[in-house]
Amino acid sequence: MTDFAAIAQAHGTPTYVYDAAAIRAAYRAFASAFPGALIAYAVKSNTALAVMRLLAREGAGADIVSGGELEACVRAGIAPGAIVFSGVGKTDAEITAALAAGVLQLNIESGAELARIAEIARGMGLRAPVALRLTPDVGGAAFDQTTTGRRGDKFGLLEEDLVPLYAQAHRHPDLDLRGLSVHIGSQILSLEPFAAAFARLAEVVQRLRAQGLPVRALDLGGGLGIPYEDVHAPPSVRDYEALVRRAIGPLDTEIILEPGRALVGAAGVILARVVRVKEGASGRFVVLDAGMNTLVRPALYGARHRVEPLAPRPGPLEPCAVVGPICESSDVLARDLPLPPVEAGDLILIRDAGAHGACLASTYNAHPLPAEVLVDGDKASLIRARQTVPDLFARDRVPAWLA
Ligand code: LLP
Repeated sequence: MTDFAAIAQAHGTPTYVYDAAAIRAAYRAFASAFPGALIAYAVKSNTALAVMRLLAREGAGADIVSGGELEACVRAGIAPGAIVFSGVGKTDAEITAALAAGVLQLNIESGAELARIAEIARGMGLRAPVALRLTPDVGGAAFDQTTTGRRGDKFGLLEEDLVPLYAQAHRHPDLDLRGLSVHIGSQILSLEPFAAAFARLAEVVQRLRAQGLPVRALDLGGGLGIPYEDVHAPPSVRDYEALVRRAIGPLDTEIILEPGRALVGAAGVILARVVRVKEGASGRFVVLDAGMNTLVRPALYGARHRVEPLAPRPGPLEPCAVVGPICESSDVLARDLPLPPVEAGDLILIRDAGAHGACLASTYNAHPLPAEVLVDGDKASLIRARQTVPDLFARDRVPAWLA
């Protein structure tokens, strides 16, 4: 049992606390279900170097979307040959850095990007390993904002554009065309959207092969959801694997998976403290030292996270709004949450914050970024120091003409 009170005492609040055993178990579920596949951890979910190192030790590769994430992988010890680079806005500098590092492949999102990557590769005297990202025109993620595979979304290539581009890439002397990728979104709670996307992908593979175009590798993206609420029942990794085996197995390709949330989401909590209890006109506000600056998902997507006192006090449950200190009415972490009596100073846990918590945090209202702690059995180590108020202004310069 993690001693959250001791962590709060040692490191203060708010603090993100991650459980190494839970991350390892989640990774091993994928690795054992998909023995031959590359499990490329979507590092956008949590870029703490210690978390990434832990996954690297387990054998994970990485899915990256920026030069910063590439640097994080280098520092965490993830082999470049196990890195795939996705995203619609790769800059020349980022493409150059990825090619120089020797990443496994760049997932191409447009014809213009393909042309630019080829030019850069030619200039560097090498062939760029690439895959084309298919837009299968499938929805199905929990939030509109995290759905990425529909016609009209900014990601990927529609089949009618992809097929001619694939033929062009295959002939291109500066490109090593490996195959296709697909990623339809994040926090997907049933197998149907995956089944629809993989069926489309398989059709496209067959169409390409019928034209004599080889497809060696398929990157199936991430997206498998986690249960944030009791009503959520995401497919198990085993069920997901059975689907992949049925839909993609017969194509006999290399398989790449890009799970993010499913590896780290449930392994993290935010440890926060009650600053104030305020009786408002419409009910009780429990004001924490963590808010939308610490976990933006509720404000950004209407996402719900379980919020609970570490040591519930005896007494009747009363519906509360759990809010943060930020000067925005959207700074609400949970609405109408039945809570036992709480008092200023009480410790609160915000569950399932291991993915898209710290990495989306902000310093809005000049709140320093929280500390991050990794727990492994009886060890609890600070893996990212709390930002200080002077840190907030370290990059500021006041021009001499204002002196
Ligand atoms: N691959 C690509 C190309 C992606 O864009 C993503 C997530 C993943 C893999 C990983 O998906 P996962 O297995 O983690 O679902 N901030 C949002 C989530 C945005 C995810 C964006 N892309 C949230 O807090 O829910």
